[in-house]
Amino acid sequence: MLILCGLYASAGAPPDMLIRHETPDDGPAIAAVVERAFTDHPHGSGTEAAIVRALRAADALVVSLVAEVEGQVRGYVAASAVQVAGQSTSWHGLGPVAVEPAVQGQGIGSWLIAECLAQLRRKASSGCVVLGEPGYYGRFGFKAASGLVYPGPPSEFFMALPFKSCVPQGVVAYHEAFAGEA
Ligand SMILES: CC(C)(COP(=O)(O)OP(=O)(O)OC[C@H]1O[C@@H](n2cnc3c(N)ncnc32)[C@H](O)[C@@H]1OP(=O)(O)O)[C@@H](O)C(=O)NCCC(=O)NCCS
Repeated sequence: MLILCGLYASAGAPPDMLIRHETPDDGPAIAAVVERAFTDHPHGSGTEAAIVRALRAADALVVSLVAEVEGQVRGYVAASAVQVAGQSTSWHGLGPVAVEPAVQGQGIGSWLIAECLAQLRRKASSGCVVLGEPGYYGRFGFKAASGLVYPGPPSEFFMALPFKSCVPQGVVAYHEAFAGEA
Protein backbone atom coordinates (compact mmCIF):
# COMPACT_ATOMS: atom_id res chain seq x y z
CA MET A 1 0.00 0.00 0.00
CA LEU A 2 1.40 3.39 -0.98
CA ILE A 3 0.22 6.32 1.10
CA LEU A 4 0.68 9.66 -0.65
CA CYS A 5 -0.58 12.77 1.13
CA GLY A 6 -3.73 11.03 2.35
CA LEU A 7 -4.33 9.25 -0.95
CA TYR A 8 -4.24 5.48 -1.00
CA ALA A 9 -3.08 3.68 -4.11
CA SER A 10 -3.47 -0.01 -3.32
CA ALA A 11 -1.19 -2.63 -4.80
CA GLY A 12 -3.29 -4.99 -6.91
CA ALA A 13 -6.25 -2.60 -7.07
CA PRO A 14 -7.65 -1.45 -10.41
CA PRO A 15 -4.87 0.76 -11.85
CA ASP A 16 -6.96 3.91 -12.20
CA MET A 17 -8.57 3.65 -8.75
CA LEU A 18 -7.73 5.92 -5.87
CA ILE A 19 -9.04 5.46 -2.33
CA ARG A 20 -9.08 8.68 -0.35
CA HIS A 21 -10.81 10.38 2.56
CA GLU A 22 -14.01 12.18 1.72
CA THR A 23 -13.70 15.92 1.25
CA PRO A 24 -16.37 18.57 1.95
CA ASP A 25 -17.27 18.60 -1.77
CA ASP A 26 -17.94 14.85 -1.95
CA GLY A 27 -21.33 14.80 -0.18
CA PRO A 28 -23.61 14.85 -3.25
CA ALA A 29 -21.51 12.30 -5.19
CA ILE A 30 -21.40 9.98 -2.18
CA ALA A 31 -25.17 10.25 -1.71
CA ALA A 32 -25.75 9.49 -5.39
CA VAL A 33 -23.55 6.37 -5.35
CA VAL A 34 -25.10 5.11 -2.12
CA GLU A 35 -28.64 5.66 -3.42
CA ARG A 36 -27.94 3.89 -6.71
CA ALA A 37 -26.18 0.97 -5.01
CA PHE A 38 -29.09 0.35 -2.66
CA THR A 39 -31.90 0.87 -5.17
CA ASP A 40 -33.83 -2.41 -5.33
CA HIS A 41 -31.41 -3.97 -2.83
CA PRO A 42 -33.24 -6.81 -1.04
CA HIS A 43 -32.12 -5.62 2.39
CA GLY A 44 -31.90 -1.91 1.61
CA SER A 45 -33.98 0.52 3.63
CA GLY A 46 -33.79 3.46 1.23
CA THR A 47 -32.32 5.49 4.07
CA GLU A 48 -28.63 4.66 3.57
CA ALA A 49 -27.68 8.02 2.02
CA ALA A 50 -29.55 9.81 4.81
CA ILE A 51 -27.66 7.72 7.37
CA VAL A 52 -24.35 8.89 5.88
CA ARG A 53 -25.53 12.51 5.97
CA ALA A 54 -26.67 12.15 9.58
CA LEU A 55 -23.38 10.54 10.63
CA ARG A 56 -21.49 13.36 8.94
CA ALA A 57 -23.67 16.03 10.57
CA ALA A 58 -23.07 14.41 13.97
CA ASP A 59 -19.30 14.29 13.29
CA ALA A 60 -19.58 10.54 13.84
CA LEU A 61 -17.79 9.34 10.68
CA VAL A 62 -14.69 7.75 12.18
CA VAL A 63 -13.69 6.57 8.70
CA SER A 64 -15.26 7.91 5.50
CA LEU A 65 -13.53 6.84 2.30
CA VAL A 66 -14.36 7.19 -1.35
CA ALA A 67 -13.07 5.18 -4.27
CA GLU A 68 -12.41 7.46 -7.18
CA VAL A 69 -12.05 6.10 -10.70
CA GLU A 70 -11.11 8.50 -13.48
CA GLY A 71 -11.97 11.42 -11.22
CA GLN A 72 -15.45 10.13 -10.36
CA VAL A 73 -16.64 8.86 -6.98
CA ARG A 74 -17.60 5.24 -7.68
CA GLY A 75 -17.60 3.70 -4.21
CA TYR A 76 -17.95 4.60 -0.57
CA VAL A 77 -17.42 3.11 2.89
CA ALA A 78 -18.06 4.47 6.37
CA ALA A 79 -17.28 3.34 9.89
CA SER A 80 -18.67 4.77 13.11
CA ALA A 81 -18.43 3.91 16.79
CA VAL A 82 -20.84 1.39 18.32
CA GLN A 83 -21.97 0.89 21.88
CA VAL A 84 -22.00 -2.54 23.50
CA ALA A 85 -24.34 -3.29 26.40
CA GLY A 86 -25.14 0.41 26.59
CA GLN A 87 -21.51 1.44 27.05
CA SER A 88 -19.21 3.38 24.75
CA THR A 89 -16.46 1.14 23.39
CA SER A 90 -13.50 1.32 21.06
CA TRP A 91 -15.39 -0.97 18.66
CA HIS A 92 -16.76 0.29 15.37
CA GLY A 93 -19.46 -0.61 12.89
CA LEU A 94 -18.68 -0.93 9.18
CA GLY A 95 -21.18 0.60 6.77
CA PRO A 96 -22.80 1.69 4.71
CA VAL A 97 -20.62 0.21 1.95
CA ALA A 98 -21.68 1.01 -1.60
CA VAL A 99 -20.27 0.65 -5.09
CA GLU A 100 -21.78 2.15 -8.22
CA PRO A 101 -23.78 -0.70 -9.82
CA ALA A 102 -22.04 -0.33 -13.20
CA VAL A 103 -18.63 -1.06 -11.67
CA GLN A 104 -19.51 -3.67 -9.06
CA GLY A 105 -17.54 -6.89 -9.12
CA GLN A 106 -14.26 -5.16 -10.03
CA GLY A 107 -12.73 -5.20 -6.55
CA ILE A 108 -13.68 -1.66 -5.53
CA GLY A 109 -15.76 -2.75 -2.53
CA SER A 110 -13.02 -5.10 -1.33
CA TRP A 111 -10.37 -2.39 -1.53
CA LEU A 112 -12.58 0.11 0.29
CA ILE A 113 -13.35 -2.35 3.09
CA ALA A 114 -9.72 -3.45 3.44
CA GLU A 115 -8.56 0.16 3.68
CA CYS A 116 -11.35 1.05 6.12
CA LEU A 117 -10.34 -1.84 8.39
CA ALA A 118 -6.66 -0.83 8.13
CA GLN A 119 -7.56 2.71 9.15
CA LEU A 120 -9.62 1.51 12.11
CA ARG A 121 -6.62 -0.53 13.28
CA ARG A 122 -4.39 2.52 12.97
CA LYS A 123 -6.89 4.46 15.07
CA ALA A 124 -6.51 1.84 17.84
CA SER A 125 -9.98 0.43 17.32
CA SER A 126 -10.54 -2.80 19.24
CA GLY A 127 -12.68 -4.38 16.56
CA CYS A 128 -15.36 -3.96 13.95
CA VAL A 129 -18.85 -5.35 13.48
CA VAL A 130 -20.88 -5.60 10.31
CA LEU A 131 -24.40 -6.53 9.35
CA GLY A 132 -24.39 -8.19 5.95
CA GLU A 133 -23.80 -11.25 3.84
CA PRO A 134 -21.49 -13.78 5.52
CA GLY A 135 -20.37 -14.93 2.07
CA TYR A 136 -18.98 -11.48 1.36
CA TYR A 137 -17.75 -10.22 4.72
CA GLY A 138 -16.25 -13.56 5.69
CA ARG A 139 -13.50 -12.91 3.15
CA PHE A 140 -12.29 -9.99 5.30
CA GLY A 141 -12.20 -12.12 8.45
CA PHE A 142 -15.62 -11.25 9.88
CA LYS A 143 -17.26 -14.12 11.77
CA ALA A 144 -20.25 -14.61 14.02
CA ALA A 145 -19.11 -13.79 17.56
CA SER A 146 -21.02 -15.46 20.34
CA GLY A 147 -22.11 -13.03 23.00
CA LEU A 148 -21.99 -10.01 20.70
CA VAL A 149 -25.58 -9.59 19.64
CA TYR A 150 -27.52 -7.42 17.23
CA PRO A 151 -31.26 -7.85 17.74
CA GLY A 152 -33.50 -8.40 14.76
CA PRO A 153 -31.84 -10.01 11.74
CA PRO A 154 -30.86 -13.70 11.74
CA SER A 155 -27.70 -14.03 13.83
CA GLU A 156 -25.52 -15.29 10.96
CA PHE A 157 -25.79 -11.87 9.29
CA PHE A 158 -24.18 -10.07 12.22
CA MET A 159 -20.41 -10.57 12.36
CA ALA A 160 -17.40 -9.29 14.24
CA LEU A 161 -13.72 -8.85 13.49
CA PRO A 162 -11.70 -8.35 16.69
CA PHE A 163 -8.46 -6.38 16.38
CA LYS A 164 -7.51 -7.22 19.98
CA SER A 165 -7.95 -10.34 22.07
CA CYS A 166 -10.99 -9.26 24.05
CA VAL A 167 -14.46 -9.33 22.50
CA PRO A 168 -17.07 -7.43 24.52
CA GLN A 169 -20.32 -9.16 25.35
CA GLY A 170 -23.76 -7.70 24.97
CA VAL A 171 -26.17 -6.02 22.63
CA VAL A 172 -24.57 -3.79 19.99
CA ALA A 173 -26.09 -0.41 19.19
CA TYR A 174 -25.06 1.61 16.17
CA HIS A 175 -25.02 5.42 16.21
CA GLU A 176 -28.47 6.96 16.46
CA ALA A 177 -28.08 8.12 12.81
CA PHE A 178 -28.94 4.54 11.87
CA ALA A 179 -32.21 4.79 13.79
CA GLY A 180 -32.43 1.01 13.97
CA GLU A 181 -31.62 0.54 10.27
CA ALA A 182 -27.94 -0.51 10.43
C1 LIG B 1 -21.54 -5.27 -1.69
C2 LIG B 1 -20.69 -4.33 -2.55
C3 LIG B 1 -20.25 -3.14 -1.72
C4 LIG B 1 -19.48 -5.09 -3.03
O1 LIG B 1 -18.68 -4.22 -3.81
P1 LIG B 1 -18.01 -4.76 -5.17
O2 LIG B 1 -17.04 -3.76 -5.62
O3 LIG B 1 -19.08 -5.15 -6.10
O4 LIG B 1 -17.30 -6.07 -4.62
P2 LIG B 1 -15.90 -6.70 -5.05
O5 LIG B 1 -15.68 -6.48 -6.51
O6 LIG B 1 -14.86 -6.24 -4.13
O7 LIG B 1 -16.15 -8.22 -4.75
C5 LIG B 1 -16.96 -8.92 -5.62
C6 LIG B 1 -17.20 -10.28 -5.01
O8 LIG B 1 -18.09 -10.13 -3.91
C7 LIG B 1 -19.21 -10.97 -4.13
N1 LIG B 1 -20.38 -10.31 -3.58
C8 LIG B 1 -20.83 -9.07 -3.84
N2 LIG B 1 -21.97 -8.85 -3.15
C9 LIG B 1 -22.21 -9.98 -2.44
C10 LIG B 1 -23.23 -10.38 -1.55
N3 LIG B 1 -24.26 -9.57 -1.23
N4 LIG B 1 -23.15 -11.61 -1.00
C11 LIG B 1 -22.14 -12.44 -1.29
N5 LIG B 1 -21.14 -12.12 -2.15
C12 LIG B 1 -21.19 -10.91 -2.71
C13 LIG B 1 -19.29 -11.11 -5.64
O9 LIG B 1 -19.99 -12.28 -5.98
C14 LIG B 1 -17.83 -11.21 -6.01
O10 LIG B 1 -17.34 -12.51 -5.75
P3 LIG B 1 -16.02 -13.09 -6.48
O11 LIG B 1 -14.85 -12.26 -6.00
O12 LIG B 1 -15.94 -14.50 -5.97
O13 LIG B 1 -16.27 -12.96 -7.94
C15 LIG B 1 -21.47 -3.83 -3.80
O14 LIG B 1 -21.86 -4.95 -4.56
C16 LIG B 1 -22.69 -2.97 -3.48
O15 LIG B 1 -22.60 -1.75 -3.40
N6 LIG B 1 -23.87 -3.63 -3.30
C17 LIG B 1 -25.10 -2.90 -3.01
C18 LIG B 1 -25.05 -2.30 -1.62
C19 LIG B 1 -24.68 -3.33 -0.55
O16 LIG B 1 -25.13 -4.47 -0.56
N7 LIG B 1 -23.85 -2.89 0.42
C20 LIG B 1 -23.40 -3.76 1.49
C21 LIG B 1 -24.34 -3.76 2.63
S1 LIG B 1 -24.01 -2.34 3.70
